[in-house]
Amino acid sequence: MTMNRTHLLQRGLTLTLGLVLGLLAGCERPPVETVQRGYRGTAMVQVYNPRTLAEQAPANQAPAPLEAASPDGPKAAQVYQNVKVLGHLSVGEFNRTMAAVTAWVAPKQGCAYCHNVQNFAEDTLYTKVVARRMLQMTQTVNVDWQRHVGKTGVTCYTCHRGAPVPKEIWFQPLAPKAGSNFLGDRAGQNAPAETVGLASLPNDPFTPFLLNAEGIRVAGTQALPADNRHSTKQAEWTYGLMVHMSKSLGVNCTQCHNTRAFGSWENSSPPRLTAWYGIRMARELNNEFMVPLTDTFPANRRGPGGDVAKVNCATCHQGAHKPLYGAEMAKFHPELLMKSPAPAASGVTALTTDDMKTLQTLPAEAPKPGAPG
Ligand code: HEC
Ligand code: HEC
Ligand code: HEC
Ligand code: HEC
Repeated sequence: MTMNRTHLLQRGLTLTLGLVLGLLAGCERPPVETVQRGYRGTAMVQVYNPRTLAEQAPANQAPAPLEAASPDGPKAAQVYQNVKVLGHLSVGEFNRTMAAVTAWVAPKQGCAYCHNVQNFAEDTLYTKVVARRMLQMTQTVNVDWQRHVGKTGVTCYTCHRGAPVPKEIWFQPLAPKAGSNFLGDRAGQNAPAETVGLASLPNDPFTPFLLNAEGIRVAGTQALPADNRHSTKQAEWTYGLMVHMSKSLGVNCTQCHNTRAFGSWENSSPPRLTAWYGIRMARELNNEFMVPLTDTFPANRRGPGGDVAKVNCATCHQGAHKPLYGAEMAKFHPELLMKSPAPAASGVTALTTDDMKTLQTLPAEAPKPGAPG
């Protein structure tokens, strides 16, 4: 009898102790570091955990550049049979690019990942067809989107990090059939998803904003409904995207916003403007490059609804405020810093007319293109 009581008591204590430890495990061990991001008193402060940063550092190391190749000698277009993007390079430069691309995208698989090595000119493997378009996509980012990527730019490695499929991509979730239960369309809510930090927000904030061009708005800009078309759904999607942005960059909301007025550009910090361009850039990459490749990809590379893999902030950033902490890899690859002179199949321009329209419909205090960024 007494034995049993003590036993029970002990079990109770162990349980309580376990519970307390379990709860504490959710806390971060001090010290954390804080960095002021805005004017004093605005509480625009970033909180960093130095241990997390130290853990992330090795994952964000850029590989050493390959030795430069001579620009002299015959051009690739003269020597090879089927080059459409890199024909203006010397054969030496062309082969250097092939070596780099292999190291960035398919280091384990080698040239054979994209080529029938009996005949390098063939376009039989889908990976080669995709890679050719990826060359143009990378050039477009570096040329047309400097307001986002600056002089740092991107290479294949920024997204691929030595793997054929980038770690961070997104697909559209399968929508439950309408009327399949009496709750109706829950818009992906209350099904905690990593994409929105396990909150009960709609789990696909990407389709409305990084594929379509819905307004990213919470606060109405007018008192009366006439022009005030800001819905609860729009607000929820907006918060979903914001959580994704914060997580992808490893920053708090205050990296970009003064929380007393989220919508106000005057109260925001410069990274918010960079982010604004980033949203438009991701949208263009998805619409101009990824979606048209849908049928090129085999079924096993596509999402549950058959859509192509798409880009979001995490595809490049992977938890860092600047991808690879701002390592400048692209400058060692001038062929990726310019659009190829050969008439590329795309017809892609700097800012699309849609983007210009969006710019014009921004609230008065929003930045116009040409604003510091
Ligand atoms: C990630 C995909 C990829 C990998 C890996 C790759 N290549 Fe390529 N390769 C391409 C693409 C795309 C083209 C066409 C470029 C163009 O149209 O400008 C090409 C074209 C070529 C050509 C020109 C063939 C011709 O006659 O048209 C040669 C030669 C070549 N690659 C060699 C190599 C070698 C050698 C390797 C391994 C070190 C390699 N490639 C790895 C994608 C790849
Ligand atoms: C902005 C991010 C980004 C950049 C930069 C980028 N890629 Fe990709 N790449 C993707 C995405 C997203 C996919 C689709 C993932 C998949 O294949 O399922 C992809 C797929 C591919 C594939 C198909 C792989 C497979 O197994 O299905 C190849 C090959 C490829 N990329 C080559 C390249 C090359 C070469 C470069 C540089 C010239 C490059 N990529 C630059 C995002 C990027
Ligand atoms: C990297 C910068 C960045 C971070 C971090 C960020 N935001 Fe934003 N936020 C933006 C940009 C840019 C816009 C405007 C988007 C547009 O208009 O296309 C915006 C818009 C908003 C809006 C809409 C304002 C309006 O006009 O109605 C709200 C609300 C908001 N963010 C809240 C948040 C919250 C909450 C967080 C943290 C979870 C956060 N943001 C993190 C850049 C950021
Ligand atoms: C194609 C790759 C790519 C994608 C996709 C991308 N970024 Fe970036 N981003 C970069 C690069 C590269 C830089 C560094 C620019 C520099 O050094 O000036 C950067 C810089 C930034 C900065 C400035 C950081 C600072 O500390 O000054 C912000 C903010 C940012 N990105 C937000 C975003 C958001 C939000 C998204 C998604 C909507 C996004 N990015 C998508 C490549 C990308």
